[in-house]
Amino acid sequence: MALSDEVNPDDGIEALRSATSFLHARLDSIIRHQVITADGALDSINYRRYLQAQLKAHQRLETLITRFRAELEQAGLTITPRLHRTAWLREDLGPAVHTVPAPGPVPRISSVEGVLGVVYTVEGSSLGARHLLAVARRCHERQDQRLPTRFLEGYGEATGAMWRENLHCIAGRAREPARLKRLIAGARRAFAVFLQELPWQH
Ligand code: HEM
Repeated sequence: MALSDEVNPDDGIEALRSATSFLHARLDSIIRHQVITADGALDSINYRRYLQAQLKAHQRLETLITRFRAELEQAGLTITPRLHRTAWLREDLGPAVHTVPAPGPVPRISSVEGVLGVVYTVEGSSLGARHLLAVARRCHERQDQRLPTRFLEGYGEATGAMWRENLHCIAGRAREPARLKRLIAGARRAFAVFLQELPWQH
């Protein structure tokens, strides 16, 4: 491949972001609208439905990521700490976890770039979760609501570092247009999984 055919890594990440922004906007708007009430609290029933939907989506995506563990680690990503989301969701749901219907199928993706695209979306979902966490914390402080937030807390103070490691690893693979295309396709498939599992019309 000629050097001039390479995509600048920052431009690769930007391309990934802009190729998925319409899907993000849809998810963000549905979740925000359903889960956050007009007076800035979490709707406790819809919050539980949100956790259930997240559990189903993360079950599908964690299975896929686990299948590609060796290849992803070879690409420079630490995988073990990224596979706790379903456990956090089970903890938050408590006994209600037994009423969660079975998730849809694991997406069929066969390239490591495709799965890295999935990782981009899954890891990015933790950035959005921090916003819901801020809402939950304000409610705790006002002492008018106490909902389980282990999933929303995610990596806690390590969130920024985990996100940067993920972007660094993706950027290394986003230079070549064919790989970037697979990254984008994988990221979009993961967004579709999150949208499919939502219980609300969209
Ligand atoms: C399952 C649901 C969600 C998924 C899969 C998701 C995915 C993503 C991704 C991939 C990014 C990174 C974009 C980049 O490259 O910078 C991101 C960032 C972001 N998301 Fe979401 N998101 C979700 C839900 C939400 C929700 C509900 C909100 C708002 C309440 C939200 C707000 C944000 C914000 C503000 C950012 C920018 C980073 C920041 O300032 O913290 N997201 N999300």
